[in-house]
Amino acid sequence: MAKLCISTCLTMLAFVIFHLKKLNAVSSYSFSFESFDKNPNFESNFALYGDAKVVGNGSSLQLTHSVSPSAGRVMYKQPIKLVEGNPGNLASFSTYFSFLMSPDSGDGLAFVMVPGGFNASVFDSNPFGLYLGPEKSSPKFVAVEFDTMRDARYGDLNDNHVGIDVGGFVSVKVRNVSSNNIVLNSGKRLHSWIDYEAGSKRLEVRLSHSGDIKPIDPLLSHPIELLKMWSDEKVFIGLSSSNRNSSQTCSLHSWNFNLRRVLHWMHSQPLDPQAFAKHEKPMVVQKKSDCILKVLAAMIFGTAFGALGAFMVLYLWTIFGSRRPVVPEECSVHPADFEYNKVKVVVDKAIEDGKH
Ligand SMILES: *[C@@H]1O[C@H](CO)[C@@H](O)[C@H](O)[C@H]1NC(C)=O
Ligand SMILES: *[C@@H]1O[C@H](CO)[C@@H](O)[C@H](O)[C@H]1NC(C)=O
Ligand SMILES: *[C@@H]1O[C@H](CO)[C@@H](O)[C@H](O)[C@H]1NC(C)=O
Ligand SMILES: *[C@@H]1O[C@H](CO)[C@@H](O)[C@H](O)[C@H]1NC(C)=O
Repeated sequence: MAKLCISTCLTMLAFVIFHLKKLNAVSSYSFSFESFDKNPNFESNFALYGDAKVVGNGSSLQLTHSVSPSAGRVMYKQPIKLVEGNPGNLASFSTYFSFLMSPDSGDGLAFVMVPGGFNASVFDSNPFGLYLGPEKSSPKFVAVEFDTMRDARYGDLNDNHVGIDVGGFVSVKVRNVSSNNIVLNSGKRLHSWIDYEAGSKRLEVRLSHSGDIKPIDPLLSHPIELLKMWSDEKVFIGLSSSNRNSSQTCSLHSWNFNLRRVLHWMHSQPLDPQAFAKHEKPMVVQKKSDCILKVLAAMIFGTAFGALGAFMVLYLWTIFGSRRPVVPEECSVHPADFEYNKVKVVVDKAIEDGKH
């Protein structure tokens, strides 16, 4: 009977812990490719479009070849979600890729984040071969462009810039990388890091020459609420390139992506006080639901442990309580000695613990 109670109780506890774990689930979504062919996961996880193909025994992924016009892209098949669960665990992400562009005047390369409806197999004359519909814009489009062509239609600064594009091809933030002594299409390998922190709601772009470590200072930093843009919609990520009418080749040598889910109530406050003031209302609402959840979780935990404790006491009492009269007098430990030893042990242990 007591055993049954214990097992029921343990099952209950396991159930509670499982659900708490689910509540706190920090699921991750990541991939990492140093070579493209040899990895059996590559083909099942990535889709290649246009002229994109694996070359050099899988050492690189060529997006455009030297015949004009050429365009290609690679998309990760699994979509990401920037918010998941209830309350939403928001996502931060980091991606790194190394690439090489030949010294010709093509469009360059773009890291893209597109909504589910985006048809990746369509290429057109837009920058990076991206088709965003007849309006050439999409409210749910975000890209980081490594642009090697000055296109006056989109207000390009020069033919060697990095920009963050939101909603279309006109950059919201742009950097002349010549001033960083970087030439995007030098024919040498470059490394780029793109990071988004859900807490500070900031998209940061870093770029360095091959062999250099990740720079501390971002090349570009842009405050953007990606969660507001996509909510719980699926978002696809990819890299796209087009050489227009040049013979520019663009290839990728490695690419990794890492998505981290952060507990809703663990988010830091936004660093930008103005952004905080602007969105004060939804933040307060979120906090309230967090609080209720925390209280609920604590209550469930408390109840479960209370119940477990009660069952334990009951169990021990039924075992030892019913046995006591059977134990022969001479075998029983003197209660006073027993108590003393127990206390001593506990105290010693406490001292020991304190030392550590
Ligand atoms: C590709 O790899 C195989 C075996 O490792 C090698 O024999 C071959 O020469 C390589 N080809 C190229 C183009 O590197
Ligand atoms: C995407 O575009 C291609 C080429 O225009 C077309 O054949 C295909 O049906 C489209 N796919 C979707 C899902 O719309
Ligand atoms: C970009 O930077 C280079 C080097 O500092 C400079 O010569 C050039 O004028 C800059 N271009 C623009 C459009 O600011
Ligand atoms: C490539 O296209 C640009 C405009 O898109 C044009 O100015 C240039 O002359 C073209 N180059 C060639 C080689 O056709």
